[in-house]
Amino acid sequence: MSSSFKPGENAFRFHLFGNFVIGVRGQEARKMFFSQRHFSTTEGYKMFSKAVPVPELTKTLVSAEEEHGLSFKKQLEVLVNRKRLTAIISTMLCDTQTVVASWKDEGSIDPFDRINDITFLVFAHMVTSSDFVSETRDFSRFQDQFFTQLRNNTPAMIFMPWFYRRAQHEKEVAVTSLFAKLTTYIEAREKSKASASEPIDLLLNHGLNTHDIIQFILGFLFGGVYNTTKAISWILIYISIHPQWKSAIRFEVDGALTGTSVDSSKPLHSQLADVTTEAWENSMPTLDLIISETFRLVMNQTVLRRNMGEDVKLPGGQGHISNGTFVVYSHADAHLKSETYTEPWAFKPDRFKDGKQKVTNDFLGWGAGRHRCVGMRIAKLTIKIIVCLFVMTYDYDITRKKRKFSSAATIPIPDHNKVNDARPKGESIILKYKRIVV
Ligand code: HEM
Repeated sequence: MSSSFKPGENAFRFHLFGNFVIGVRGQEARKMFFSQRHFSTTEGYKMFSKAVPVPELTKTLVSAEEEHGLSFKKQLEVLVNRKRLTAIISTMLCDTQTVVASWKDEGSIDPFDRINDITFLVFAHMVTSSDFVSETRDFSRFQDQFFTQLRNNTPAMIFMPWFYRRAQHEKEVAVTSLFAKLTTYIEAREKSKASASEPIDLLLNHGLNTHDIIQFILGFLFGGVYNTTKAISWILIYISIHPQWKSAIRFEVDGALTGTSVDSSKPLHSQLADVTTEAWENSMPTLDLIISETFRLVMNQTVLRRNMGEDVKLPGGQGHISNGTFVVYSHADAHLKSETYTEPWAFKPDRFKDGKQKVTNDFLGWGAGRHRCVGMRIAKLTIKIIVCLFVMTYDYDITRKKRKFSSAATIPIPDHNKVNDARPKGESIILKYKRIVV
C-alpha cells in the first residue's frame, strides 16, 4: 500500500467493487482513523466479506468486528473471566501437551501447519465442550472444514471469483458443514441438560440461542486461531535466529516454576499449570517484550473503515472523506517507520522496555482507539503458554530455504499479500526439533 502514495501526500484514492476508497498514512491521519466515532468497522469489513459466499457466515465475520464488539464482549466474559482463568490455563496446557505428544521425539515441522493444530484445539475447547473436542474423527473433520474455508478466502478470490469456482464451492460446502455440525451438537446438548459447566452450557444458561452460540464460536475461532498461530510461529522463528531471547524465555519460565514451589516430579505441563494466572499475566516481562516486537514486525495488515457520518477533513488540507467512503490504513505505516522505531526491520525486543511508545498509537498490534481487540487477554495468555511449553520441551533450530526476492528486511518477514497465511515471504522455514524433557 505504501508505494501507492505520491511523495508529500498522505492520502490516495481508488475504486474497489464500485466503491470509493481512500488510503491514508502519517501520524495525524492515523489518529483520525482510529478515533473517528462514525468510522464503522462493520461497514468497512463488509466490503471484503464479498469473499464469503454464505450469508450466515458474512454476518458472523462482520459481527465479530462490530462497533466495540459489545455483545461479543459480553458473551466472551461469560467464558473468559477471573474465576475461570485458572481452569482455562490448565486445560490449555493439557491440550497443547496432547498435540505435541502425538509428534515424534525428534523431527522437522512447518510451524504454520503444526501450531494451527494446537491453537485450533485450544480455542475450540475454550468455546465448545470437552465432549466436542474429544470425538477425534468428527473434530478433525470440523478442523479440516474450518481451514478449508479459511484457505479459500483470499483477495484473489474476491477479485476473480470466476477463476476460483471449485474453491468457492469447497468453501460453501465447508461453511455449511461447520454450521450443521454445531447446530446438531448444541441442540443435542440443550435437550440432554448435560453438565452445566462446559462452555456451551454456560452460553445456553446465559440465554443465548443456537444461532447466537454458533456466531460466537465461529467469530471467536476466526478472530483467534489464525492470528495466534501467526504470532506463535513467528516468535519461535525470531527467537531461534536470536537465541539470546530463547535463553531469556527459558530463564524466565524457570524463575516462574521456582517461585511457585511446584512438584518437579510432575510432567512439565502440570508444573506449568501450577504457575499462577497473575504470574503468567504480569511476571513474564521478557515474553511481553518479545510479543510486542514480533507483532510490530508481523501484524502489518490493512485495516478497514467506512465513514457513516458527516464529512471528515483529511489532515494537511488534502480534501475530505465524505459520507459512505471507505477508508483503509496499513499498520506498516506505524510499525515500520524508522522515525519511530530505529532499524525497523531488525528484531529488537528491548526497544519496548519501559512501555516505550513515542507517539500516540504507534503500536497497533492489538488495535487502537475505538476498536481495540477484545480478545487480547486470552490471546496473549494462549501465546505465552504455547511458546513456553514448546521452548521448554524442545531444543530446536530453524532451516531457511530461500527463493529469490529482494526486500529491505534482514530477517524473514511474512508475505502480507497472503492475508490468511502470513508465511515467510520468498522462503520457506522449517523447525528442526528434538525433545529435551520426557
Ligand atoms: C494474536 C491474536 C490476536 C490479534 C493479533 C488480534 C488483533 C486485533 C486487532 C489489530 C484488532 C483491531 C482491528 C481493527 O482496527 O480493525 C482486533 C479487534 C478485535 N478482535 Fe482481536 N486479535 C487477536 C485475537 C482475538 C481473539 C482470540 C478474539 C476473540 C475472543 C478477538 C476478537 C476481536 C474483536 C471482537 C475485535 C473487534 C473489536 C471492535 O471492533 O471494537 N481477537 N483484534
